[in-house]
Parts: sequence; structure tokens; C-alpha cells
Amino acid sequence: MNVLIAFQQCFNEQPTRLGRAPGRVNLLGEHVDYNDGLVLPAAIDRAVNLAAAPNADQIITLHALDLQQQASFSLDALEKKIDLNGDPLPEWALYPAGVAWALQEARLPINGMRVAFSSDVPIGAGLSSSAAVEVGFGMLWQSMSAWKIPALQMAQLCQRAENAYVGVSCGLMDQFASACGVEGHALLFDTRSLKWEPAPLPEGTAIVIADSGVRRSLTHSGYNERRASCEEAVRLLQQYLPNIRALRDVQTTEFAAYAPYLPEVTRKRAEHIVKEIHRVESAVSALRRNDRQAFGALMYACHNSLRNLYEVSTPELDTLVSIARKLPGAIGARLTGAGFGGCTVNLVEAEHADEFMQGLQENYAREVGRQAQAYLCKASQGAQAVILSSG
Ligand code: GLA
Repeated sequence: MNVLIAFQQCFNEQPTRLGRAPGRVNLLGEHVDYNDGLVLPAAIDRAVNLAAAPNADQIITLHALDLQQQASFSLDALEKKIDLNGDPLPEWALYPAGVAWALQEARLPINGMRVAFSSDVPIGAGLSSSAAVEVGFGMLWQSMSAWKIPALQMAQLCQRAENAYVGVSCGLMDQFASACGVEGHALLFDTRSLKWEPAPLPEGTAIVIADSGVRRSLTHSGYNERRASCEEAVRLLQQYLPNIRALRDVQTTEFAAYAPYLPEVTRKRAEHIVKEIHRVESAVSALRRNDRQAFGALMYACHNSLRNLYEVSTPELDTLVSIARKLPGAIGARLTGAGFGGCTVNLVEAEHADEFMQGLQENYAREVGRQAQAYLCKASQGAQAVILSSG
């Protein structure tokens, strides 16, 4: 959908700003960003597009074009999470309102605006549609203000919005990837030191995303529960390893020694994290040697761990991975994002990508009885806002 034209239709005038913020796919390092681990996401060529114009007052008016819904609220009453009629904000509006709240909290002054926006990042599919909305709005506000902050800080403020305003205890990976994406590259991000660098994908490979078409409810509570289990594991392991601050600090040998003292569910969750952080380290050296088979094997191992230990997979995602393994050109496959439904990410030999996607869709339709959307994904640059005219 062309948001520029839609803006003109909604507001009867021209927008003065355009914004774009991509979703992301994560190649490896799942659920480790809230355990101080390393992650390897890439911004994708699916994004939230926004058209906007400033308001002289404190009023925000939003048109969510895909949902065909509107909301208006005041920057003076963000804490209340209500619209101008005093009704609770619809869930989708909490993300922009949360970003406004986080910017205000960081003492970055913002003004009212009118915005029309649309997204082709599938919602609830593990491709960070919410982070894209947050970062897109953050960039719009920045483009209308006198302040400018680094992309990583913008990501942190958007994470704060999601944690403290929307109520999801997410890590920083999604907002980071949307804000800092580099075209044609994955991003190796250390969520403890916050250092990152672009990482080229193995030569001759392509990324295929496959959407299982299944969304599970209770994603937010399941996610918050996983995070709480990790915190519990750190608390319990500190009895034996007093210097650890996060599961990042636990070596695999130490984990083997003390895991028997953890309750079963906590042990399984922590085992995934400790080994997954290790897998990302191995993947980085596989990338440096251009050893794509080793990289792919780590992706399969990650999926098994998410299924058996972290328990965030679904039968449909498991089917997509087991079909992928047998197809020509497959190098690695696993569920991507938080899980509980959504998508798999597949690393495939570029020359076999078309055949791979066709095989995946045909077999999935036969085995599961529903359609999987498969698409080639290009790693894209991070969020941007452009100024069309002053004001
Ligand atoms: C969601 C969260 C991220 C991350 C992933 C799992 O996408 O927003 O911070 O924890 O799940 O890796």
C-alpha cells in the first residue's frame, strides 16, 4: 500500500515525512538476548512504511491502514493509555504510544503528529512486526525534532517502550536489527557489551523464510514465563557460582556440574540458553571459515533445542524443518523469533532456492493441509525517515 497516497486520502493534505522500518529474521541465538548472549539477526526487506505530518498541539492521530482502524490520543496523558474519548487504547496503538512515553521519559521533547502507516511484516510471525512499528515511529519523531540520537539508543528506547509500557519483557535484538540493519549482511550483536558488527552471509547462500501460517495465543505470557525461568536459574546457580550475573557467564562444563540441582523445567530452559550462546560462538567461527555446513548444523541443533528444551515450537514448525532437511539445497533450518507459531528461517544454496521453496510449500500443503508462504529474503538496511518538506 502506498502510504503517501493513503495519507493524502486520510488527512486531505500532503505528508511532510516518510519513514520505513524493517522487520528482522534471526539466524541464530534465540532467546539469548535477555541472557546477555550473542545474536545473529538480519533486517529484512519487509517493513512498516509511514507517512506523517506534525501537529502544532500534543495530539497524535493514527490511521492503521491494514487494520482500517484509527486512534487519537494526547501526549499529555500517555500514562493513562486512553484515547481522546477516554476509552482504552487499542492494542496496536500501545506501541506508538509507548515509544512516545519512552522518548518523553528520556527527556527528548516530541510533538503531536498525524500518521498513516502500513506494514508487510506479517503480524505475530516471529519477524518483529512490533519492533518495526516502534522503531518507525521513533524515527518519525526524531525527524520532526531538534534532537538526534544514535540508532542503538533509539532501539533501546523502543525496547523500554515494549518492556515498561506494552508489558512484554523482550530483549533488545528486534529493535536493534530494525534500527541498525546493514544491506546484504547479518548483524553479530553482543547484547552484553552492545558491540556489533555486520557479518557477511556464507558465499552462494540465500535466506528463505517460511511462514507456517499458525499463530498461537498466549505468546506474551509464554515469553515472560521463559524469561522468569532464566532469572530463576541464575539465582539458583549463584549458590554454586557466585560470580555469575547472567546465563552468559555459565560455561557448559559448569552447567553440566550444577544442572542436577535445578528443578526440571528451569534446568531445561537454562540448558537451551547456555548451549545456544555457545552455538552462536561456533557459528561465528564457521562464518569466518566460510563453513556453511557447520553453520547449518548449528541451525538444526538450535531448532531441536527450542523444541525439546525451551518448548516454544509447534508441530507445524517442526514439520517445516523436517521437510526442509530433505530438500535439495538445504543447509540449515529452524524456527525463528520467539516461537509459539510463526516462521522458520532456512539457509539454502542460492542456485537451488526456487526449487527449495516450491518443494517446501508442496510438501507442507500435503502433510499439514494448509499453505505455507515461502519467500526469499534480502538483508536490508535499518530504519530511516526522510524529510519531504519542512514543518
Ligand atoms: C522476541 C523478542 C526478542 C528475542 C526473541 C527470541 O522476538 O522480542 O527480544 O528475545 O523473541 O530470541
